[in-house]
Amino acid sequence: MKTKLLLPSQIDEAADFIRNGKLLAIPTETVYGLAADAFNPIAVAKIFEAKERPTFDPLIVHIADFEQIFTVAKIVPPAAEKLAKKCWAGPLTIILPKQNEIPDLVTAGLSSVGIRIPNSEITREIIRKSKTPIAAPSANLFGHTSPTCAKQVLDDLRGRIDAIIDGGECKIGVESTIISFVNKIPVCYRFGGIELEYIESVIGKVEIAGFHGKEDFSPGRSLRHYAPKTPLYLNKKESDFSPETKIGTINQEGDLYEIAKNLYSEIRNADAKNCDVILARLVENKGIGMAINDRLKRAAADYKD
Ligand code: TXA
Ligand code: MG
Repeated sequence: MKTKLLLPSQIDEAADFIRNGKLLAIPTETVYGLAADAFNPIAVAKIFEAKERPTFDPLIVHIADFEQIFTVAKIVPPAAEKLAKKCWAGPLTIILPKQNEIPDLVTAGLSSVGIRIPNSEITREIIRKSKTPIAAPSANLFGHTSPTCAKQVLDDLRGRIDAIIDGGECKIGVESTIISFVNKIPVCYRFGGIELEYIESVIGKVEIAGFHGKEDFSPGRSLRHYAPKTPLYLNKKESDFSPETKIGTINQEGDLYEIAKNLYSEIRNADAKNCDVILARLVENKGIGMAINDRLKRAAADYKD
């Protein structure tokens, strides 16, 4: 299949792709997503096929405006509404009991669904014009580093998807923070673009899900994820390798927001240089640094927890 490249001025055409059950890569403030009509199970199946994603890994449903949440979620508890209204449009996904009409494929058979409003005017307009919420995982091959620009999407998915709309570089650079409101106490399933400290200042104490290994507790969160082909080490230095070893490094200069924004591009670029190893380091474990460290650990060859 030929992948069509659309410009931000071509929102109507982009919405047609969604309405016609096709796959469209979309910009968001976190990473690019691979979108399809969330209510069309055949279109959603194509997402799993294009990404080679296992069907036990549920997708996030993206909506354009808060009112649209009731087409996707059965119940919106007050704490969820309060947090969503503070953080949306933005890098927060909330997990709520799902409406029956959401296909099982979207939620991997779970009775809950992940929902967010992305902070991209282009993508919200596409959702409005296509008149349906869109299911969209990150637009990379399964297990691979998430894409933060259109070129990186095409590197992974060219020929596998119908179209991509180029919205430039993603401003946040790591995925959304995921908070579940399915049980009494909110649970964080993934550190991401919204700081946990901020979330707790709005809704109080949040439990942290078992992040590593416990697939039943945190579906789709396998330890080896975001991984480059070149082994990436967090606990080694150049002198640990023989002089012949071709060593790649990633630039981790600047504040935590800058590091987050550049993280996936740095990993992808280092990977493209055909080095023998890539060296990186963990950052201060606070705020968006918690998301950076989580992704680095999942990308690393020398991290087991
Ligand atoms: O920033 C983001 O969230 C990006 C952009 C495109 O919006 N999307 C994204 O999607 O990161 P994806 O598919 O790469 O990650 C979705 C993850 C799943 O792997 C799973 O861990 C969690 O969201 N998830 C989705 N629905 C869930 C549910 N009902 N219960 C628990 N976890 C869920
Ligand atoms: Mg992903």
